[in-house]
Amino acid sequence: MIYPIVKYGKEVLEQLAEPVATFDGTLEKLVADMFETMYAANGVGLAAPQIGLAMRLCVIDTTTGQDPTARLVLANPEIISIEGEQVEEEGCLSLPDFRAKTPRPLRATVRAQDAHGKEFTMTGEGLLARAFCHETDHLNGRLFISHVSRLKRDSIKRKVKKMMKAGEW
Ligand code: NI
Repeated sequence: MIYPIVKYGKEVLEQLAEPVATFDGTLEKLVADMFETMYAANGVGLAAPQIGLAMRLCVIDTTTGQDPTARLVLANPEIISIEGEQVEEEGCLSLPDFRAKTPRPLRATVRAQDAHGKEFTMTGEGLLARAFCHETDHLNGRLFISHVSRLKRDSIKRKVKKMMKAGEW
């Protein structure tokens, strides 16, 4: 099932999500739906708040479905170490058509549980490190625009407000 993606301006995107406590068939189905939703939107990551669920759960695939082994499920993820810096264009499915140069760590190590509750740690570099940080931020009510310059952030917010008024958001 493909969920509608919640856009910037909705409260669920700016609140602290609740830990995942139950790893069962319902969660597996949700994870499958999140992958389907993410692929349909051509994203490389999707967090549960983006489909309106305040849960500490996200999916990532930096190959956008090209490599099935690249599919990652992160439940209750925590960034436990970071190293270096990269500044690349970043976007978010909840802020469609907006992109901005966003500083992120070059490497990030995440500790999380998989769809079955099994704990793992994984270090990502480049785009994967960016995705770990971006998606974990979502679970803490944070969007990528909080990492860009104030000028850029204000410009994006202004444009979104305009679109909201025009009923285009
Ligand atoms: Ni996002």
